[in-house]
Order: sequence, then C-alpha cells, then structure tokens
Amino acid sequence: MTKPQKVRPYLTTHSLLPENQETPIQFINNDSVENQLFFRRNHFTYPTLSYSNYWLPINGVVSAPLLLSMQDILQYPSKTVEVVLECSGDKRNLFEPKTFGEQWEKGAISQGKWKGVPLRTLLEISGIGEGAKEVVVEGYDYGLRTDLDEVYTYTRSLPIEKALHQDTIIAYEYNNQPIPFKHGYPLRLIVPQWYAMASVKWIKQISVINTPFTGPFQTIDYMYYPNKDNDQNAFPVTAININSTIQKPLDMEKINTGVHLIKGIAWTGKGVITKVEISIDDGYTWSNADILPGKNVGYGWVSWSFEWNISEKGEYTIKSRATDSFGQIQPNLPFWNKKGYGYNAIDKVKVKVE
Ligand code: MTE
Repeated sequence: MTKPQKVRPYLTTHSLLPENQETPIQFINNDSVENQLFFRRNHFTYPTLSYSNYWLPINGVVSAPLLLSMQDILQYPSKTVEVVLECSGDKRNLFEPKTFGEQWEKGAISQGKWKGVPLRTLLEISGIGEGAKEVVVEGYDYGLRTDLDEVYTYTRSLPIEKALHQDTIIAYEYNNQPIPFKHGYPLRLIVPQWYAMASVKWIKQISVINTPFTGPFQTIDYMYYPNKDNDQNAFPVTAININSTIQKPLDMEKINTGVHLIKGIAWTGKGVITKVEISIDDGYTWSNADILPGKNVGYGWVSWSFEWNISEKGEYTIKSRATDSFGQIQPNLPFWNKKGYGYNAIDKVKVKVE
C-alpha cells in the first residue's frame, strides 16, 4: 500500500525579483503560519548582511545614542506577541476599477508569534529628547526607485505614541526560532494592529526625529488616494481594516448536496472580532458562524465555521461579514483608492451544488 502523500503547497508568485509571493488561502489552516507558507513582500532584492558583526544604532533626538550588539538586545526583558501581518495590498485584485500595484489575491496575510524587546525599552534607555515626534526605522535593503530616479533604502516612520506602545517590538524570533532570513533576520520591527508595511525587516538603524519623515515609502506609497484624477485628500495607511476570508469551499468549487462546513478566518486592527455572519443567498439573509472559542483576544485572527445543510442543487454565492468590538463591520463595497490599499468588502465565493 502506498503511503498517502502529504500536501506540499507552494506560494503563488507575482514577481521573483524582488520576490513577491502569496499563500494560497486554503493552506492557511494553522494559527501560526509556517515559514514555507509565509507570504513574501519585498520592494528590493534581498540585502546582504553580515550577521556575526551585527550592530544596531539608535540615534537622533536622544540624550544618549546607542550602538547595540545582538547580545545587548537579548539581555533585555522580552515580549512575545501573536499578530496578524497583512499587506495593505492584500485582495487588491478585487478592486473595481482596477488599481496599480501587485495584483494580490487573498493570501498576502500571515499570523505567528514574534518575540523581541519592546522598542519602548530601547527608546527609554537612549533617552527620548524634547520635541521627539516620530521614530524612523531603516531597513538594509535598497534599490532604485524609478519614479524618483534615486536609490533608497526601505525606511518607514512611526508616530512616537505608536513607537512607545508596549507591544511594538524589535523582534528576533518567529515561532520560537530565529526570524527566517526572508522575513527580516536578525531584527525586524513588529507593529501589531497596523498593516505590515510598518513592520520593517532587516533593521539597519533607528532614529528619533522631531519633524515629519518624508521618505517615499511614507509619503508617496502607503497613502490612500481617494480620487482617480488627482492626489488631493490623501491620508496615510495605518491600522488594519476589519476583514474576513472564506477558505472552504473554494471559489468556483463544485460540491455535492449534504452537510458542509464553511470555514474561514476574520481579523481586525483595532479591537477584537465579536461576530462573523454567513449568507448563502448572496447577502439577503445572514446567520452567525461559530467563532473558535478563546481566540478573539490580542492581535490574531479568529477561525470560524458554519454548518451548511444543502439539499437543493444549483449555484450559490456564499458571503462572510465580520464585526469587531468597535462596531466596525465589513462594508458591501470597498473604499476605492488609487493605489488599491485596505480592501475589506464582504468576502464571497461562488459554488455549484450538484
Ligand atoms: N521591510 C523591508 N526592509 N523591506 C520591504 O520591502 N516590505 C514591507 C514590510 N517590511 C518591506 C519591509 C511590506 S509592504 C510588507 S507587506 C511586509 O514587510 C511583508 O513582510 P514579509 O515579506 O515578511 O511577508
């Protein structure tokens, strides 16, 4: 008898240089996404780093600039946070009209446990100076931005309050292992509740500043531009929008009559998920799904399921709609913006029952 083969999924590739790949959504069936299934979102090719000689400078508007070795960093009290990292371009391919950028489907999202030292601890040791407004975190990766005809590193800033949040950490472990190289080894900023552009990989330097940071990944990219024809009324991408995804059945799947478990995940930036509703009649009527107990705490997603007993053959549109503790609910239509960030309309799949 042949042994049943373990399913070995691979990531869907959008580009290889730089590497941009996402997780086929049906394979996200664990609260901790393993390394091989973790989506990859890069602006540049991977950096070259010398780990043995790694130093982290903390400078700018501080009373005592620091230069920390990995050993120094490991000696501070650590914190572990379980967070959803979702690319702000996740689900971009669903926007109508179409928008610029990688056409991500539903799998530019991951979840896992990150361990590290709170950024706050390091900032307090360096002594934040008067008038400090933002904390800039620079990555080691760099390349030419063709729109500006200049070379830049991947650099982002955080408002000082978010940088000082107790769960904003400089991580060195993912799921009890050193961070995988492609996800930011040896040090990565982790910003819970915010879209993942904020979580800078391969940290090169941290600087406290007293004027707004104007780097292109802060002020050109990762901004919502609500108008089609001009850049007026733009505002920055920050917290994750309330969202849900149906993982089972798959879109355009044929299924038989009988009992089916509709399954998926739901997540939000601020607050926790309080309700997930399912409609099997294209949104006319809704019923509550079961949320896996004990999971709607912290910064993770919840898994949910809904038992569907279907005896009538035909085509169906199944929808999922999540609500959070701040009363936010997934909208019927997404907030369209020129660069296609933050898609969070009610999720749907079509199935044929035979
Ligand atoms: N950090 C660096 N240094 N370089 C990058 O290109 N991409 C950001 C963020 N941090 C990026 C980065 C974006 S847009 C996302 S969505 C996440 O990293 C992707 O993280 P992952 O590749 O570990 O999935």
